[in-house]
Amino acid sequence: MIEFENVTKVYESGNKKVTAVNDVSFHVEEGKICVFLGPSGCGKTTLLRMVNRLIPITKGTIKVNGKDVNNTDAIELRRSIGYVIQHNGLFPNMTIEENISVVPKLLGWEETKIKKRYDELMEMMGLDPEQFQKRYPYELSGGQQQRIGIARALAADPPVMLMDEPFGALDPVIREHLQNEFLKIQKEMKKTILFVSHDIDEAIKLGDQVAIFNAGKLMQFDTPDRILSHPKNDFVRDFVGEDRSLKRLSLLKVKDLVELIDGFVEGRNKSDWSGQVISVNDNLRTALSVMLSEPNGEAGVADEENNLLGVLHVSDFSLLNGVHPEDLTIVK
Ligand SMILES: Nc1ncnc2c1ncn2[C@@H]1O[C@H](COP(=O)(O)OP(=O)(O)O)[C@@H](O)[C@H]1O
Ligand SMILES: [Mg+2]
Repeated sequence: MIEFENVTKVYESGNKKVTAVNDVSFHVEEGKICVFLGPSGCGKTTLLRMVNRLIPITKGTIKVNGKDVNNTDAIELRRSIGYVIQHNGLFPNMTIEENISVVPKLLGWEETKIKKRYDELMEMMGLDPEQFQKRYPYELSGGQQQRIGIARALAADPPVMLMDEPFGALDPVIREHLQNEFLKIQKEMKKTILFVSHDIDEAIKLGDQVAIFNAGKLMQFDTPDRILSHPKNDFVRDFVGEDRSLKRLSLLKVKDLVELIDGFVEGRNKSDWSGQVISVNDNLRTALSVMLSEPNGEAGVADEENNLLGVLHVSDFSLLNGVHPEDLTIVK
């Protein structure tokens, strides 16, 4: 668990003071991804870098797994926390294998164990260990470099990862691919991850929890669904955008809506259905776009075994208003 208690950062440059982080308190549970979201300059990077003490805390405390970071040796702390930045920060004069092995070497691991870990991480990132071993970062594409950056941060298997816009510089297709891979890996790793983003879509896709900041202040700390369905103030409402209802739909499954309809299975079965069919496991945003492309706004719903359960109509979406988000399955 990572605990922020009344954390403040004031930068002093000359006679000017900038409050980059202003009295921020929240807790991130173990094994969860918390996305720090907000516009440029709102203090996300500053808050992140106070966790591994790259930036000193002005006021308040940060605890990682119960231990105040200020009472932990800074070097030891940094070795126990993986850190990934936007432009991967690979060492240009080291090979890919050397880059990934930096922390295990510093920790004094045996050579065979380091080699094994290198192979394992490359496999995990979907890169051929042998092919890349002796290459230098400049010989890799942006997406590959970013994966190496993540592999390097994971090398010593730290329980906590700090990721500062790690996919920010990538083109949308590669970004989406890496986001999906990252979620798959996290399902098994279950690390506690603080992830900085300025992109609401990335935040709702990756975050178990989202912390939205404006000018150093925490605006809302909540699940993506709650942020979209119950924005706490005008800033959050504007930041998540006009289409927040649509975004919310991408978090919910067809199953959720079907469960809200009385007698869906018995009463609405149409065995002669010849229109489009969606799955109970599709997200509702996809489902809606399918239904809107049909002249009567309907689609058949099939279960996991591909049996037709019934027919859904666009008007059924109104049932979602006022439903408590905790009662719904969140797609991850
Ligand atoms: N070393 C520094 N000295 C003075 N001001 C800084 C320094 N680093 C960041 N700031 C200021 O602190 C605020 C927050 O910056 P930052 O944490 O980088 O925001 P974000 O990551 O959300 O873009 C900004 O106003 C920025 O200009
Ligand atoms: Mg930043």
